[in-house]
Amino acid sequence: MYHMDALHHHIETIRERQGKKLLILGHHYQREEVILHADLQGDSFQLSAAAANNSNCETIVFCGVHFMAETADILANSAKNLAQRNGKCVNVLLPDLDAGCSMADMATRQDVERCWNKLSEIVNTDDITPITYVNSTADLKAFCGRHGGIACTSSNAQAVLAAALKQKRQVLFFPDQHLGRNTALKMGMASSDIVCWDDMKSGDADANFGGNTAEQIRNSRVILWNGYCCVHQKFVPDHIDAIRLAFPEIRVIVHPECPRAVVEKADEAGSTSHIVKQISESPTGSAWAVGTEARLVERLAKQYPDKTVINLAFQPSYCDTMGLIDLPKLAAVLDSVESGQPKNVIRVDEHTAPNALLCLERMLACT
Ligand code: 13P
Ligand code: SF4
Repeated sequence: MYHMDALHHHIETIRERQGKKLLILGHHYQREEVILHADLQGDSFQLSAAAANNSNCETIVFCGVHFMAETADILANSAKNLAQRNGKCVNVLLPDLDAGCSMADMATRQDVERCWNKLSEIVNTDDITPITYVNSTADLKAFCGRHGGIACTSSNAQAVLAAALKQKRQVLFFPDQHLGRNTALKMGMASSDIVCWDDMKSGDADANFGGNTAEQIRNSRVILWNGYCCVHQKFVPDHIDAIRLAFPEIRVIVHPECPRAVVEKADEAGSTSHIVKQISESPTGSAWAVGTEARLVERLAKQYPDKTVINLAFQPSYCDTMGLIDLPKLAAVLDSVESGQPKNVIRVDEHTAPNALLCLERMLACT
């Protein structure tokens, strides 16, 4: 405990000394002891916007995962922001370089390019908008930028998908099949408009377009990539049945990265910020079962002792990589800033960044 107290004190002292030169961003899924030190706690969209609008800090410490730090680097060091800072780059630091995202790893640029080329055998790819969930590598965002595509987060997926389908007949949505499917169905699209591209099935004789026939692809409007989040994939409809049996009045709220059958059965679905908002604005005495990462659920339960807030699953589902960031690692990157030799700097290379920026800016402009 004394050890923790000393670290908290050390981090706060550095934050005071650095003042406005330092911005610490923390995703909702971070550990409680880490989030305490964040200047801003938010969902992926809010944190991207904070990085984009930042023109005067020198260092961003991103308490989140790798793709988030990449996004912050691309946005914070856009040509516009660099001009405002007389060309001075912001260093974006990730306290643990192993903090990745297994979902982002499920779609590499090479995989998606192979799919895109295969699609071009049967449809006109000029009539497809590639949409990448922000949970993806900068490389894939650059692919989207080059092909007239756009990024989305879980809080703006519907606006992005609607805008894309207004402009072109089809979208290729990656890496998260569940967010894509849940969003398309919420917009009123029919299941028959949606196909899922499974790279492993591309060798099937009569369905060699990611497990689909050429006709199925041609008739679809939304082509989903077969990726998923291992944290949200753990929720199943049985969890909802069981919780309603025990608490008939409870409201079930889940993240749209959960499988379709779970979202269908829940009372509502929304991004992490939506979940935070709904619970914070609900009246005293309300009861919520929450289907998302367990650290956020535990924080909400502590913040609102006048309400019942419980995990939807009996076994809490934690994101292991988000949990890699801890106080010693946060203190270590802050020390490196103070010493003038920042470590764990995430810098997207100059060939990738401009197109990835295009894709992110289209998202930020789409409300
Ligand atoms: P949001 O922050 O957009 O809700 O996404 C949740 C998530 O899984 C982040 O990795
Ligand atoms: Fe990736 Fe899921 Fe963890 Fe988010 S919660 S970082 S999508 S594995």
